[in-house]
Amino acid sequence: MLSMAISPSCWLLKQRLAFVFLFVVVVTGINPLADRCFTSIFSFGDSLMDTAEGLGIPFVQPSYGAKNRKLVKFEKGLNFAVAGATALNSSFLKANIGIHDGNTDISFGDELNSFKDLLPSLCSSSSHCKMLLRNSLIVMGEIGGNDYRHAFKQGIKVEKIRQLVPLVVDVVASAINELVELGAVTFLVPGGFPIGCSPDLLTKFQGSNKDKYDPLTGCLTWLNQFSEHHNELLRKELEKLRNHHPDITIVYADYYNTTMRFYHSPKQFGFKETLKACCGTGGPYSYNSSRSCGYPPLKSSCNNPFSYISWDGMHYTEAANKWLANAVFEELMKAVTCVPH
Ligand SMILES: *[C@@H]1O[C@H](CO)[C@@H](O)[C@H](O)[C@H]1NC(C)=O
Ligand SMILES: *[C@@H]1O[C@H](CO)[C@@H](O)[C@H](O)[C@H]1NC(C)=O
Ligand SMILES: *[C@@H]1O[C@H](CO)[C@@H](O)[C@H](O)[C@H]1NC(C)=O
Repeated sequence: MLSMAISPSCWLLKQRLAFVFLFVVVVTGINPLADRCFTSIFSFGDSLMDTAEGLGIPFVQPSYGAKNRKLVKFEKGLNFAVAGATALNSSFLKANIGIHDGNTDISFGDELNSFKDLLPSLCSSSSHCKMLLRNSLIVMGEIGGNDYRHAFKQGIKVEKIRQLVPLVVDVVASAINELVELGAVTFLVPGGFPIGCSPDLLTKFQGSNKDKYDPLTGCLTWLNQFSEHHNELLRKELEKLRNHHPDITIVYADYYNTTMRFYHSPKQFGFKETLKACCGTGGPYSYNSSRSCGYPPLKSSCNNPFSYISWDGMHYTEAANKWLANAVFEELMKAVTCVPH
């Protein structure tokens, strides 16, 4: 997991590694509860993902794209998530939506291929591989957020961006089907975040029309409705998958409602600044894309990151991620039956 918000320099390092293909190998300290349920965890998605940490698995060693498989030390799980990864590939996004400024060329499909390439080196026979996947938790996302974010930042019309939603959901569903074929039975699928509360997009769509804002939270209602639309389609698709594969468990991680609680009752979580980035500068949301966190001219972070929800205008702070991860972990533990291996 590209867990953000540890420190600006650490964040920057991870962000840079992410650009040269990255995945994280998770090796030690698995949460004892999770350990009873899964022997390994494989995760796919983008940099917004922080589930491994939530499951008590520390971030250890990035090595996505390592040509030498011996470099990959596999014990408890592998993270194929890449910062900036999109659900749809960049040639598709460019040709069909006109998106040109994605910050990575890695798509979900690439992550899945990387996983399939590596799988034979993790298990010794087809039945061993099936068993490995049977005892694994597959974390499928968050994915799609970057496809939408790039499009919104580029000023593409929301009607056009909405056309991406069923395609993104399809990508997730096809990946689940493929992994079920390979033997996986337990999936955690996070929904989208409320992007209307994100400082980068709040800055992009800053305006004086008060009607566009949720008076309670200050978030942009139409953007949050976009996230809700994505989540609705995703949940419907997951229900179809459950019906199609009655033997598998698919847990939907409700990132939207969980994080909306931060904005509705910030005090309950210790937050004082809900819509400003901790590491950033300029404007009402402390965000300016040409002066973003970690890049020159360097700007240090806020003094008390624990009172902020947003780290850099796009990613959550460690504090927010912890609350989220705990909530997701609880949801997961309610849904799975844990048997000692
Ligand atoms: C990109 O995605 C499209 C649509 O799914 C697919 O047809 C195409 O082959 C992909 N291109 C690459 C380079 O992966
Ligand atoms: C989550 O939020 C959506 C949109 O506001 C709402 O429709 C849904 O009922 C909520 N779900 C839960 C479980 O609270
Ligand atoms: C963002 O920063 C640049 C470079 O410092 C500056 O020129 C620009 O006016 C800033 N934009 C906003 C919206 O503050």
